Amino acid sequence: MKRVPVIVLGAGGVGQALLRQIVDGRSLHASRNKIQFDVVAVADSNSLRWESNGLTDIQLGDIIAAKKMGMPVNPEGCRQKRLTGKRPSNLDIIDFAPAAELKNVIVVDITAQAGMEPVIDRALDYGYSVVMANKKALAGPWDTAQLYFNHRRIRHESTVGGGQPVIATLRTLLDTNDVIHEIEGQLSGTLGYICQQLDRGVAFSQAVAQAKANGYTEPDPREDLGGRDVMRKVMILGRMAGWPLEEDDIGVESLYPAEMAALSVPKFMKAAAALDEAMRERVDAAAAEGCVLRYTAVLSQNGGTVGLKAIPADSPLANLKYISFRTGRYNDEPLLIGGKGAGVEMTAAGVLGDMVDLAREM
Ligand SMILES: NC(=O)c1ccc[n+]([C@@H]2O[C@H](COP(=O)([O-])OP(=O)(O)OC[C@H]3O[C@@H](n4cnc5c(N)ncnc54)[C@H](OP(=O)(O)O)[C@@H]3O)[C@@H](O)[C@H]2O)c1
Repeated sequence: MKRVPVIVLGAGGVGQALLRQIVDGRSLHASRNKIQFDVVAVADSNSLRWESNGLTDIQLGDIIAAKKMGMPVNPEGCRQKRLTGKRPSNLDIIDFAPAAELKNVIVVDITAQAGMEPVIDRALDYGYSVVMANKKALAGPWDTAQLYFNHRRIRHESTVGGGQPVIATLRTLLDTNDVIHEIEGQLSGTLGYICQQLDRGVAFSQAVAQAKANGYTEPDPREDLGGRDVMRKVMILGRMAGWPLEEDDIGVESLYPAEMAALSVPKFMKAAAALDEAMRERVDAAAAEGCVLRYTAVLSQNGGTVGLKAIPADSPLANLKYISFRTGRYNDEPLLIGGKGAGVEMTAAGVLGDMVDLAREM
Protein backbone atom coordinates (compact mmCIF):
# COMPACT_ATOMS: atom_id res chain seq x y z
CA MET A 1 0.00 0.00 0.00
CA LYS A 2 1.37 3.43 -0.96
CA ARG A 3 0.86 5.82 1.98
CA VAL A 4 0.52 9.42 0.85
CA PRO A 5 0.67 12.19 3.47
CA VAL A 6 -1.76 15.05 2.77
CA ILE A 7 -1.77 18.60 4.15
CA VAL A 8 -5.18 20.23 3.78
CA LEU A 9 -5.17 24.04 3.95
CA GLY A 10 -8.78 25.25 4.26
CA ALA A 11 -11.67 23.50 5.96
CA GLY A 12 -14.69 25.32 4.55
CA GLY A 13 -17.45 23.77 2.46
CA VAL A 14 -15.07 22.11 -0.01
CA GLY A 15 -12.48 21.16 2.62
CA GLN A 16 -15.07 19.38 4.77
CA ALA A 17 -16.49 17.55 1.74
CA LEU A 18 -12.96 16.48 0.78
CA LEU A 19 -12.21 15.07 4.24
CA ARG A 20 -15.49 13.12 4.15
CA GLN A 21 -14.73 11.79 0.65
CA ILE A 22 -11.23 10.71 1.72
CA VAL A 23 -12.73 8.73 4.61
CA ASP A 24 -15.57 7.27 2.51
CA GLY A 25 -13.18 6.37 -0.32
CA ARG A 26 -10.64 4.47 1.78
CA SER A 27 -11.50 0.94 0.66
CA LEU A 28 -11.89 2.04 -2.97
CA HIS A 29 -8.49 3.76 -2.97
CA ALA A 30 -6.90 0.70 -1.36
CA SER A 31 -8.40 -1.83 -3.76
CA ARG A 32 -8.31 0.21 -6.97
CA ASN A 33 -5.02 2.10 -6.65
CA LYS A 34 -3.27 0.65 -3.60
CA ILE A 35 -3.19 4.13 -2.09
CA GLN A 36 -3.88 5.30 1.44
CA PHE A 37 -4.19 9.03 2.05
CA ASP A 38 -2.87 9.99 5.49
CA VAL A 39 -4.25 13.43 6.32
CA VAL A 40 -1.41 14.73 8.49
CA ALA A 41 -2.70 18.31 8.76
CA VAL A 42 -5.93 20.26 8.50
CA ALA A 43 -5.74 24.03 8.91
CA ASP A 44 -8.35 26.77 8.87
CA SER A 45 -7.78 30.49 9.30
CA ASN A 46 -7.32 30.19 13.07
CA SER A 47 -5.90 26.84 13.97
CA LEU A 48 -4.21 23.62 12.93
CA ARG A 49 -4.61 19.91 13.64
CA TRP A 50 -1.38 18.00 13.01
CA GLU A 51 -0.62 14.31 13.36
CA SER A 52 2.49 13.04 11.59
CA ASN A 53 1.10 9.50 11.26
CA GLY A 54 -2.18 10.75 9.85
CA LEU A 55 -5.31 11.86 11.70
CA THR A 56 -7.66 8.96 12.39
CA ASP A 57 -11.01 8.79 10.64
CA ILE A 58 -12.66 9.57 13.98
CA GLN A 59 -10.50 12.69 14.34
CA LEU A 60 -11.36 13.72 10.76
CA GLY A 61 -15.06 13.20 11.56
CA ASP A 62 -14.66 15.38 14.65
CA ILE A 63 -13.04 18.12 12.57
CA ILE A 64 -15.92 18.05 10.07
CA ALA A 65 -18.47 18.15 12.89
CA ALA A 66 -16.66 21.04 14.59
CA LYS A 67 -16.49 23.09 11.38
CA LYS A 68 -20.17 22.45 10.66
CA MET A 69 -20.93 23.95 14.07
CA GLY A 70 -18.83 27.02 13.25
CA MET A 71 -15.93 25.98 15.47
CA PRO A 72 -12.21 25.91 14.53
CA VAL A 73 -10.49 22.68 13.45
CA ASN A 74 -8.56 22.79 16.72
CA PRO A 75 -10.27 24.67 19.58
CA GLU A 76 -7.23 24.03 21.81
CA GLY A 77 -4.90 25.48 19.15
CA CYS A 78 -7.18 28.48 18.98
CA ARG A 79 -6.93 28.99 22.73
CA GLN A 80 -3.13 28.77 22.46
CA LYS A 81 -3.24 31.29 19.65
CA ARG A 82 -5.19 33.68 21.86
CA LEU A 83 -2.58 33.23 24.63
CA THR A 84 0.54 33.39 22.48
CA GLY A 85 -0.83 35.37 19.52
CA LYS A 86 0.51 32.62 17.25
CA ARG A 87 -0.86 29.88 15.02
CA PRO A 88 1.87 28.23 12.94
CA SER A 89 1.92 29.99 9.59
CA ASN A 90 1.16 28.00 6.45
CA LEU A 91 4.88 28.12 5.65
CA ASP A 92 5.61 26.65 9.09
CA ILE A 93 3.10 23.89 8.39
CA ILE A 94 4.87 22.96 5.16
CA ASP A 95 8.20 22.96 7.05
CA PHE A 96 6.80 20.53 9.65
CA ALA A 97 6.56 17.86 6.93
CA PRO A 98 10.30 17.33 6.17
CA ALA A 99 10.99 17.76 9.89
CA ALA A 100 8.67 14.76 10.42
CA GLU A 101 10.51 12.97 7.58
CA LEU A 102 7.40 12.83 5.42
CA LYS A 103 7.94 12.10 1.76
CA ASN A 104 5.69 12.42 -1.32
CA VAL A 105 3.43 14.88 0.47
CA ILE A 106 0.41 16.39 -1.31
CA VAL A 107 -0.45 19.94 -0.22
CA VAL A 108 -4.03 20.94 -0.98
CA ASP A 109 -4.96 24.64 -1.18
CA ILE A 110 -8.71 24.88 -0.63
CA THR A 111 -8.61 28.28 0.96
CA ALA A 112 -9.93 31.29 -0.91
CA GLN A 113 -6.85 33.26 0.09
CA ALA A 114 -4.66 35.51 -2.04
CA GLY A 115 -0.92 35.32 -1.36
CA MET A 116 -0.58 31.52 -1.19
CA GLU A 117 2.33 31.55 -3.69
CA PRO A 118 5.17 31.31 -1.11
CA VAL A 119 3.43 28.31 0.46
CA ILE A 120 3.01 26.58 -2.89
CA ASP A 121 6.61 27.38 -3.84
CA ARG A 122 7.94 26.00 -0.54
CA ALA A 123 6.01 22.77 -1.07
CA LEU A 124 7.36 22.43 -4.61
CA ASP A 125 10.91 23.16 -3.38
CA TYR A 126 10.64 20.18 -1.02
CA GLY A 127 9.63 18.02 -3.99
CA TYR A 128 6.03 17.81 -2.79
CA SER A 129 2.94 17.99 -4.99
CA VAL A 130 0.20 20.61 -4.89
CA VAL A 131 -3.50 20.49 -5.66
CA MET A 132 -5.35 23.79 -5.93
CA ALA A 133 -9.07 24.51 -5.82
CA ASN A 134 -8.13 28.09 -5.00
CA LYS A 135 -7.73 30.00 -8.27
CA LYS A 136 -5.86 33.03 -7.00
CA ALA A 137 -2.26 31.86 -7.41
CA LEU A 138 -2.97 30.66 -10.96
CA ALA A 139 -4.62 33.95 -11.89
CA GLY A 140 -2.01 36.24 -10.34
CA PRO A 141 0.63 38.14 -12.33
CA TRP A 142 2.00 35.91 -15.10
CA ASP A 143 5.59 36.37 -13.89
CA THR A 144 4.78 34.39 -10.76
CA ALA A 145 1.94 32.24 -12.03
CA GLN A 146 3.69 30.75 -15.08
CA LEU A 147 5.58 28.29 -12.88
CA TYR A 148 2.29 26.65 -11.94
CA PHE A 149 1.12 25.88 -15.47
CA ASN A 150 2.00 22.51 -16.92
CA HIS A 151 3.98 21.69 -13.77
CA ARG A 152 4.49 17.95 -13.30
CA ARG A 153 3.56 18.11 -9.61
CA ILE A 154 0.60 20.52 -9.75
CA ARG A 155 -3.05 19.72 -10.47
CA HIS A 156 -5.98 22.16 -10.42
CA GLU A 157 -8.98 20.43 -11.99
CA SER A 158 -11.47 22.07 -9.60
CA THR A 159 -10.49 25.62 -10.39
CA VAL A 160 -12.79 25.66 -13.43
CA GLY A 161 -16.11 23.84 -13.74
CA GLY A 162 -15.97 22.26 -10.26
CA GLY A 163 -15.58 18.51 -10.76
CA GLN A 164 -16.28 18.54 -14.52
CA PRO A 165 -13.23 17.41 -16.49
CA VAL A 166 -12.56 20.80 -18.04
CA ILE A 167 -8.86 21.12 -17.25
CA ALA A 168 -8.23 17.46 -18.13
CA THR A 169 -9.99 17.91 -21.48
CA LEU A 170 -8.03 21.03 -22.32
CA ARG A 171 -4.80 19.31 -21.33
CA THR A 172 -5.59 16.38 -23.61
CA LEU A 173 -6.31 18.73 -26.53
CA LEU A 174 -2.98 20.48 -25.96
CA ASP A 175 -1.06 17.22 -25.47
CA THR A 176 -2.35 15.95 -28.79
CA ASN A 177 -1.20 19.02 -30.69
CA ASP A 178 -4.57 20.69 -31.12
CA VAL A 179 -4.55 24.49 -31.29
CA ILE A 180 -7.03 26.46 -29.18
CA HIS A 181 -8.70 29.33 -31.06
CA GLU A 182 -11.43 30.41 -28.68
CA ILE A 183 -12.77 29.53 -25.25
CA GLU A 184 -16.32 30.41 -24.27
CA GLY A 185 -18.42 29.51 -21.30
CA GLN A 186 -20.94 30.23 -18.62
CA LEU A 187 -18.55 29.75 -15.77
CA SER A 188 -20.60 30.78 -12.76
CA GLY A 189 -23.44 28.65 -11.44
CA THR A 190 -24.51 31.58 -9.25
CA LEU A 191 -24.77 34.05 -12.12
CA GLY A 192 -26.42 31.36 -14.25
CA TYR A 193 -29.11 31.00 -11.57
CA ILE A 194 -29.63 34.77 -11.40
CA CYS A 195 -29.95 34.98 -15.22
CA GLN A 196 -32.54 32.22 -15.24
CA GLN A 197 -34.54 34.06 -12.58
CA LEU A 198 -34.42 37.20 -14.76
CA ASP A 199 -35.88 35.12 -17.66
CA ARG A 200 -38.79 34.27 -15.38
CA GLY A 201 -39.55 37.95 -14.75
CA VAL A 202 -37.96 38.12 -11.29
CA ALA A 203 -36.44 41.54 -10.53
CA PHE A 204 -32.63 41.62 -10.42
CA SER A 205 -32.44 42.58 -6.73
CA GLN A 206 -34.89 39.80 -5.87
CA ALA A 207 -32.94 37.26 -7.90
CA VAL A 208 -29.78 38.23 -6.02
CA ALA A 209 -31.61 38.01 -2.68
CA GLN A 210 -32.95 34.54 -3.58
CA ALA A 211 -29.50 33.34 -4.66
CA LYS A 212 -28.07 34.60 -1.38
CA ALA A 213 -30.88 33.03 0.69
CA ASN A 214 -30.29 29.67 -1.08
CA GLY A 215 -26.58 29.83 -0.21
CA TYR A 216 -25.53 30.08 -3.88
CA THR A 217 -23.63 33.36 -3.48
CA GLU A 218 -20.64 34.24 -1.35
CA PRO A 219 -21.68 35.88 1.95
CA ASP A 220 -21.15 39.17 0.10
CA PRO A 221 -22.92 38.63 -3.28
CA ARG A 222 -20.80 41.37 -4.87
CA GLU A 223 -17.96 38.82 -4.96
CA ASP A 224 -20.04 36.92 -7.53
CA LEU A 225 -21.68 39.92 -9.22
CA GLY A 226 -18.34 41.66 -9.83
CA GLY A 227 -17.31 38.96 -12.32
CA ARG A 228 -13.71 38.64 -11.12
CA ASP A 229 -14.10 35.00 -10.19
CA VAL A 230 -15.32 34.25 -13.73
CA MET A 231 -12.43 36.30 -15.10
CA ARG A 232 -9.97 34.19 -13.07
CA LYS A 233 -11.48 30.96 -14.42
CA VAL A 234 -11.30 31.94 -18.07
CA MET A 235 -7.82 33.39 -17.54
CA ILE A 236 -6.64 30.03 -16.18
CA LEU A 237 -7.98 28.28 -19.30
CA GLY A 238 -6.42 30.89 -21.57
CA ARG A 239 -3.05 30.62 -19.86
CA MET A 240 -3.19 26.84 -20.21
CA ALA A 241 -3.91 27.35 -23.90
CA GLY A 242 -0.58 29.17 -24.14
CA TRP A 243 -1.73 32.79 -23.91
CA PRO A 244 0.17 34.68 -21.17
CA LEU A 245 -2.76 37.00 -20.47
CA GLU A 246 -2.97 39.46 -17.61
CA GLU A 247 -6.07 40.88 -15.90
CA ASP A 248 -6.02 44.01 -18.07
CA ASP A 249 -6.45 41.87 -21.19
CA ILE A 250 -9.90 40.73 -20.08
CA GLY A 251 -12.73 43.27 -19.90
CA VAL A 252 -15.02 42.49 -16.98
CA GLU A 253 -18.59 43.76 -16.71
CA SER A 254 -19.58 44.14 -13.07
CA LEU A 255 -23.30 43.75 -12.39
CA TYR A 256 -23.19 46.52 -9.79
CA PRO A 257 -21.76 50.05 -10.08
CA ALA A 258 -18.57 51.19 -8.35
CA GLU A 259 -20.49 53.51 -6.02
CA MET A 260 -22.14 50.47 -4.41
CA ALA A 261 -18.79 48.84 -3.63
CA ALA A 262 -18.30 50.42 -0.21
CA LEU A 263 -21.79 49.73 1.17
CA SER A 264 -22.32 47.17 3.91
CA VAL A 265 -23.90 43.94 2.67
CA PRO A 266 -27.40 44.74 4.06
CA LYS A 267 -27.25 48.25 2.55
CA PHE A 268 -26.11 46.84 -0.78
CA MET A 269 -28.96 44.32 -0.79
CA LYS A 270 -31.41 47.23 -0.42
CA ALA A 271 -29.62 49.54 -2.86
CA ALA A 272 -29.61 46.83 -5.55
CA ALA A 273 -33.29 47.60 -6.22
CA ALA A 274 -32.04 50.71 -8.05
CA LEU A 275 -30.56 48.38 -10.68
CA ASP A 276 -33.81 46.54 -11.39
CA GLU A 277 -35.25 48.79 -14.06
CA ALA A 278 -32.14 48.98 -16.25
CA MET A 279 -31.68 45.23 -16.00
CA ARG A 280 -35.33 44.62 -16.90
CA GLU A 281 -34.86 46.81 -20.01
CA ARG A 282 -31.87 44.70 -21.07
CA VAL A 283 -33.76 41.45 -20.48
CA ASP A 284 -36.74 42.77 -22.49
CA ALA A 285 -34.52 44.01 -25.35
CA ALA A 286 -32.87 40.57 -25.56
CA ALA A 287 -36.27 38.84 -25.44
CA ALA A 288 -37.52 41.01 -28.32
CA GLU A 289 -34.72 39.47 -30.40
CA GLY A 290 -35.58 35.92 -29.24
CA CYS A 291 -32.63 35.91 -26.85
CA VAL A 292 -31.91 35.52 -23.15
CA LEU A 293 -29.13 37.19 -21.17
CA ARG A 294 -26.33 34.95 -19.93
CA TYR A 295 -23.18 35.92 -18.04
CA THR A 296 -20.60 34.66 -20.46
CA ALA A 297 -16.83 34.62 -20.77
CA VAL A 298 -15.22 34.69 -24.22
CA LEU A 299 -11.45 34.54 -24.67
CA SER A 300 -8.94 34.20 -27.45
CA GLN A 301 -5.22 34.78 -27.84
CA ASN A 302 -5.41 38.58 -27.61
CA GLY A 303 -7.83 38.84 -24.72
CA GLY A 304 -11.53 38.69 -24.14
CA THR A 305 -14.58 39.77 -22.23
CA VAL A 306 -16.64 38.64 -19.31
CA GLY A 307 -20.19 39.94 -19.01
CA LEU A 308 -23.83 39.70 -19.98
CA LYS A 309 -24.45 38.54 -23.50
CA ALA A 310 -27.68 37.89 -25.44
CA ILE A 311 -27.90 34.23 -26.49
CA PRO A 312 -30.70 32.84 -28.70
CA ALA A 313 -33.29 31.37 -26.34
CA ASP A 314 -33.61 28.21 -28.44
CA SER A 315 -29.85 27.56 -28.42
CA PRO A 316 -28.82 24.67 -26.12
CA LEU A 317 -26.26 27.08 -24.71
CA ALA A 318 -29.06 29.17 -23.18
CA ASN A 319 -29.91 26.34 -20.81
CA LEU A 320 -26.59 24.74 -20.23
CA LYS A 321 -23.78 25.48 -17.85
CA TYR A 322 -21.20 24.95 -20.52
CA ILE A 323 -17.63 25.52 -21.58
CA SER A 324 -16.78 25.39 -25.25
CA PHE A 325 -13.41 25.02 -26.93
CA ARG A 326 -13.11 26.04 -30.58
CA THR A 327 -9.88 24.47 -31.75
CA GLY A 328 -8.05 23.41 -34.88
CA ARG A 329 -9.84 20.05 -34.75
CA TYR A 330 -13.12 21.24 -33.27
CA ASN A 331 -13.50 24.28 -35.48
CA ASP A 332 -16.91 24.17 -37.18
CA GLU A 333 -18.44 22.47 -34.20
CA PRO A 334 -16.75 23.42 -30.92
CA LEU A 335 -16.12 20.84 -28.23
CA LEU A 336 -18.67 21.37 -25.47
CA ILE A 337 -18.51 20.31 -21.85
CA GLY A 338 -21.75 20.85 -19.97
CA GLY A 339 -23.53 19.66 -16.90
CA LYS A 340 -24.12 20.40 -13.28
CA GLY A 341 -22.01 23.30 -12.16
CA ALA A 342 -19.82 23.47 -9.14
CA GLY A 343 -20.99 22.54 -5.69
CA VAL A 344 -18.87 21.57 -2.75
CA GLU A 345 -19.20 17.81 -3.38
CA MET A 346 -18.34 18.09 -7.09
CA THR A 347 -15.45 20.41 -6.33
CA ALA A 348 -14.10 18.14 -3.61
CA ALA A 349 -14.36 15.18 -6.00
CA GLY A 350 -12.25 17.13 -8.51
CA VAL A 351 -9.61 17.72 -5.80
CA LEU A 352 -9.66 14.06 -4.79
CA GLY A 353 -9.29 12.99 -8.42
CA ASP A 354 -6.20 15.21 -8.68
CA MET A 355 -4.78 13.65 -5.51
CA VAL A 356 -5.27 10.15 -6.89
CA ASP A 357 -3.68 11.18 -10.18
CA LEU A 358 -0.59 12.57 -8.41
CA ALA A 359 -0.37 9.62 -6.04
CA ARG A 360 -0.49 7.13 -8.93
CA GLU A 361 2.53 8.85 -10.51
CA MET A 362 4.62 8.83 -7.33
N1 LIG B 1 -17.64 26.17 -3.29
C1 LIG B 1 -17.51 25.75 -4.54
O1 LIG B 1 -18.44 25.19 -5.13
C2 LIG B 1 -16.19 25.94 -5.25
C3 LIG B 1 -16.07 25.56 -6.60
C4 LIG B 1 -14.83 25.68 -7.25
C5 LIG B 1 -13.75 26.22 -6.55
N2 LIG B 1 -13.93 26.63 -5.26
C6 LIG B 1 -12.77 27.22 -4.57
O2 LIG B 1 -12.40 26.38 -3.48
C7 LIG B 1 -11.90 27.17 -2.42
C8 LIG B 1 -12.67 26.84 -1.17
O3 LIG B 1 -14.05 27.11 -1.36
P1 LIG B 1 -15.06 26.96 -0.12
O4 LIG B 1 -16.40 27.14 -0.71
O5 LIG B 1 -14.75 25.76 0.66
O6 LIG B 1 -14.64 28.27 0.72
P2 LIG B 1 -14.93 28.59 2.25
O7 LIG B 1 -16.11 27.82 2.72
O8 LIG B 1 -14.90 30.08 2.37
O9 LIG B 1 -13.65 27.98 3.02
C9 LIG B 1 -12.38 28.56 3.01
C10 LIG B 1 -11.58 27.89 4.11
O10 LIG B 1 -10.26 28.43 4.08
C11 LIG B 1 -9.86 28.70 5.43
N3 LIG B 1 -8.80 29.69 5.45
C12 LIG B 1 -8.87 31.03 5.31
N4 LIG B 1 -7.64 31.56 5.39
C13 LIG B 1 -6.79 30.52 5.57
C14 LIG B 1 -5.40 30.43 5.73
N5 LIG B 1 -4.61 31.50 5.69
N6 LIG B 1 -4.84 29.20 5.89
C15 LIG B 1 -5.61 28.08 5.93
N7 LIG B 1 -6.95 28.11 5.80
C16 LIG B 1 -7.53 29.33 5.62
C17 LIG B 1 -11.14 29.19 6.08
O11 LIG B 1 -10.97 29.15 7.49
P3 LIG B 1 -12.17 29.45 8.51
O12 LIG B 1 -13.06 28.22 8.44
O13 LIG B 1 -11.48 29.63 9.80
O14 LIG B 1 -12.84 30.68 7.99
C18 LIG B 1 -12.12 28.16 5.52
O15 LIG B 1 -12.05 26.99 6.30
C19 LIG B 1 -12.04 28.63 -2.87
O16 LIG B 1 -10.82 29.09 -3.40
C20 LIG B 1 -13.09 28.57 -3.96
O17 LIG B 1 -12.97 29.60 -4.92
C21 LIG B 1 -15.11 26.49 -4.60
